[in-house]
Amino acid sequence: MIEVRGLKKSIRNGNTTVEILKHIDLLIPAGQFVAIMGASGSGKSTLLGLLAGLDSPTEGEVLIDGTEISHLTEDELAEVRGRKLGFVFQSFQLIPTLTALENVLLPHELNGSGDGRAAASALLRSVGLADRMHHYPIQLSGGEQQRVALARAFVMQPPIIFADEPTGNLDSENGAHILDLLLQRNRASGATLVLVTHDAQVSSHADRRIVLRDGTIVEDQMQRPA
Ligand SMILES: Nc1ncnc2c1ncn2[C@@H]1O[C@H](COP(=O)(O)OP(=O)(O)OP(=O)(O)O)[C@@H](O)[C@H]1O
Ligand SMILES: [Mg+2]
Repeated sequence: MIEVRGLKKSIRNGNTTVEILKHIDLLIPAGQFVAIMGASGSGKSTLLGLLAGLDSPTEGEVLIDGTEISHLTEDELAEVRGRKLGFVFQSFQLIPTLTALENVLLPHELNGSGDGRAAASALLRSVGLADRMHHYPIQLSGGEQQRVALARAFVMQPPIIFADEPTGNLDSENGAHILDLLLQRNRASGATLVLVTHDAQVSSHADRRIVLRDGTIVEDQMQRPA
């Protein structure tokens, strides 16, 4: 489902080149829940961004369902991202001038056909926001904003969900709720879930735990999810 071959990312900074990711090979089968861990600066967000086609590699390739994404045109990439991938950011990244419902409808308006309203409002209800649909992000708590962000990531029913520390800015109760909603997508809908976290409790629910250090994978283990 996700295949990474010889992936490298370096960034030139004046005369020096910083190697952010050194040589990553990875195969993630459909339906797996992978937790990516590692110290701050180890390259977790960079890796997730490359997997999701939000950034392009210096070397190597990322294949989503057999399609190499870094050689796609903008339009082709947008199509893959829109239909196959959902992304949840640590900092929610909702559009402030759109209501909760409009934020959730956005991917549908960019990629979908027909009217996504029924699906979007059903999703907002399912994340417990039935009475917040017409609120703007600024009127919502952090936990509520992240639930809107989840609904937005889920609305196209993508088979792959990437989440970069989705519980990092939340208290433990809201964090547990967000984790629960992601787990439901993974367990009930069979979505592949690649989640970056610092939290051992969160990673204990994963099928597989990958640890990055200085841009390389130093640990990659299957585990029995909690
Ligand atoms: N655009 C950039 N220019 C220069 N260096 C960068 C850039 N983006 C990331 N880096 C560096 O690459 C390294 C990896 O960054 P990344 O954001 O992937 O780390 P991370 O593991 O997600 O850390 P955190 O846990 O703090 O989120 C860091 O040392 C960071 O400073
Ligand atoms: Mg990060």
